[in-house]
Amino acid sequence: MRTQVGIVGAGPAGLMLSHLLHRHGIDSVVVESRSREYVEHRLRAGVLEQGSVDLLRETGLGARLDREGMRHEGIELRFDGESHRVPMTELTGRAITVYGQQEVVKDMIAARLAAGGTILFEAPAERLSGLDSAPVIHFSRQGRREELHCDFVVGCDGYHGVSRPTVPDGVLTTYERTYPFAWLGVLAAAPPAVEELIYAHHERGFALYSMRSPQISRLYLQVPADEDIADWPDERIWAELRTRLETVPNWTLNEGPVLEKSITPLRSLVVEPMQWQRLYLAGDAVHIVPPTGAKGMNLALADVKLLGAAFAAWYADGSTHLLDDYSRTALRRVWRAQQFSWWMTSMLHRLNADDPYEAKLQSSTLRYVTTSRAYATSLAENYVGLPEV
Ligand code: FAD
Ligand code: DHB
Repeated sequence: MRTQVGIVGAGPAGLMLSHLLHRHGIDSVVVESRSREYVEHRLRAGVLEQGSVDLLRETGLGARLDREGMRHEGIELRFDGESHRVPMTELTGRAITVYGQQEVVKDMIAARLAAGGTILFEAPAERLSGLDSAPVIHFSRQGRREELHCDFVVGCDGYHGVSRPTVPDGVLTTYERTYPFAWLGVLAAAPPAVEELIYAHHERGFALYSMRSPQISRLYLQVPADEDIADWPDERIWAELRTRLETVPNWTLNEGPVLEKSITPLRSLVVEPMQWQRLYLAGDAVHIVPPTGAKGMNLALADVKLLGAAFAAWYADGSTHLLDDYSRTALRRVWRAQQFSWWMTSMLHRLNADDPYEAKLQSSTLRYVTTSRAYATSLAENYVGLPEV
């Protein structure tokens, strides 16, 4: 098989890149290890920055998003028995949209297939070769080994993919931070009790109230990093959510059947540069943020927006400057998101139970960010996404 751009991974990064390339008349093939059913139902992020919404709309992927996505103009910060709204739109003129990552993925797959695009599901990439001049993605399908020859390879295969480990030792630098806690995420058939997201700081740990639709709530609890989901029957989850969220007068959680629950560890990671020879890396394959800033999917989309334009320039007249600048340009946004996600995580989680000084600093930071217009604006502009970084 041959194509112009070979893409490993059908997550938001790989699918959006394939869609953007198609709009520039550039041929691509996506190889994905999982089934279509699996990637369309994988429960993950839910917050789209204004820039991501604009990108989806501008490229013809906005119809269902506009019907079903929920535009939010503020978030609530809950701490010390009080609730404070950060009015994001009033402060920045921009908003976020709550629309599940799996819905974005479904819309992208539908668009690619309708346009005659090729996504090979259940086709795991095993290795890459020829990256200095004539790249090949070696993958397997239905028990057979196959090769995809291309001009460039884009690794959009997440942290556990094969693309990044292909780069020889000594070329890439890894910057990393791990946290001693994880998020237990729950999807519940319960109408959201609120219209905006609540980020709650509590002495027992962080909790987040989010949603997917007027009938479905999405909730998260901070738990220790090594926690076993088997130790969290539904009753324990609801009791802990009540403790951490029902801290203000006249406010109760809506409960309902738990549809899904899982535990995700938190980490911060950046690998630089995001390119080697004819291999370009995008999304979770080169950077991970803790979910507190809701940046993961948005960064993946921002990376491939740059790559789409860079390949368009290369195929139009052979100009390499956008491809050459890709890593440097993308990393500016990546590091802004790293700092913001680390800051939100540090402000809102229970950090070190043995360090009361740290807890006092957190309270002071929360009070400052909810009383100072300047500090609130800083939170808001990062949360809705900075147009230029
Ligand atoms: P992915 O979506 O991971 O896509 C990578 C794709 O590559 C996958 O489909 C995978 O199957 C495929 N792949 C991997 N290896 C191969 C191979 N060898 N060959 C072919 N295909 C391969 N962000 C938030 O903001 N909020 C959240 O609540 C949140 N929750 C998350 C929960 C989990 C469990 C995870 C893993 C991430 C979560 N994120 C969250 C982060 C967010 O979902 C990611 O940042 C986003 O999915 C990145 O998109 P991507 O396309 O780069 O990678
Ligand atoms: C959701 C996830 C996040 O990580 C976040 O910060 C806000 C909302 C969600 O899944 O809805």
